[in-house]
Amino acid sequence: MYLTKEEEHICEGEQGWAKQICMKILVRLGELFNAEKLIPISSAHVSGVSYKTLGDAPTEFLKALADAQGKATVRATLNPQSLDPEYLGKKLDAELCEKQLKILRQFERMGFTQSLTCTPYYLEKTKRGSHLAWAESSAVVYANSVLGAWTNREGGPSALAAAIIGKTPDYGIHRAENRQPKAIVHVNDHLQSETEYGALGICLGKILEDRIPMIWGIEKASENDLKQLGAALASSGMVNMFQRGPQDPIKKPRNVQTISVEARDIKSTIDSLTTTSTSKPDLVFVGCPHCSSDEMEQIARLVEDKKVKTGTEFWVCTSRHVKELKRESVEIIERSGGHVLAGVCTVVSWTEKLGIKTIMTNSAKTAYYAPTLNKAQTILAPLEDCIKAAFRR
Ligand code: F3S
Repeated sequence: MYLTKEEEHICEGEQGWAKQICMKILVRLGELFNAEKLIPISSAHVSGVSYKTLGDAPTEFLKALADAQGKATVRATLNPQSLDPEYLGKKLDAELCEKQLKILRQFERMGFTQSLTCTPYYLEKTKRGSHLAWAESSAVVYANSVLGAWTNREGGPSALAAAIIGKTPDYGIHRAENRQPKAIVHVNDHLQSETEYGALGICLGKILEDRIPMIWGIEKASENDLKQLGAALASSGMVNMFQRGPQDPIKKPRNVQTISVEARDIKSTIDSLTTTSTSKPDLVFVGCPHCSSDEMEQIARLVEDKKVKTGTEFWVCTSRHVKELKRESVEIIERSGGHVLAGVCTVVSWTEKLGIKTIMTNSAKTAYYAPTLNKAQTILAPLEDCIKAAFRR
């Protein structure tokens, strides 16, 4: 891989160990994927912030980097942590909270924005055509497919290294020739809820693996529906972007596989992500991926004048940014007995330590992961049904 003189000097350690190790990570990755050079990025987004998913060893690496003056050189944001200090922090062991805090401290020392969200695109506008190094898979698909930015799906370490160097190897979907669709999908069903878009994502992710689809029949999808579709696509498969046809200004690709998705495929996917028949879930969770301002308002409208049922928890997860922007909606949700949790999500927290055995959600991504990551039974249903299950009237 071609390196500039400055990049070579960094690789030789002339700008310190932190930059040297980060440059080596990027060069190794670039060589692995036959990149010819590094390209500048406008932002990096690091996953692997939750102590639940990270564990102890990476914390030591983060501390070593911070001790060696590792500093982000571009805008650098963080994925959700495992607890929020206001609610879950008071319910979980002090030792877990301290370990989580230790991770956040290291990122803070390195100049990362304590965004703690999987929707960093709600914090600051992402420019069309900009190159990014983002590691949260749902955000990667959204950035490539909806925002028109260019990013591979980074791992936690490579996004961290890119944040410190300010560059990423030029391979994968940073290159125009790799952003062409490799499959055409016809959706022969009028999808009616965010949950059905999520189910479409899970269904397609399994078939497509890493091939970019051009999806026809989703012209009516809202940005929230597309967010659910992308998050789910990236959960069951390795797809990093989709295109919408036929309104996108590109020709119909030739010689690619055609896939049809019928109403029965959506229904059977939703059924397969519902593993219990109980009508009384321990937790009703919305906000995967983290809620936008519009979604907060929508939830507040739906729960106004209602009360959460005794024995049920109702969580809405979002970023601190959106929570502060939408104070009025937050107050309505909290007055109803719900909890608006900022900077955290169900999947990366220890719900099993809180005795939660059944989770109802409108997110196909959460329903896909919760049986393994939360050891919980799941019910997947649209927002309105989730609210009916959580509230008395
Ligand atoms: Fe975000 Fe957690 Fe879902 S990180 S995409 S809310 S699993």
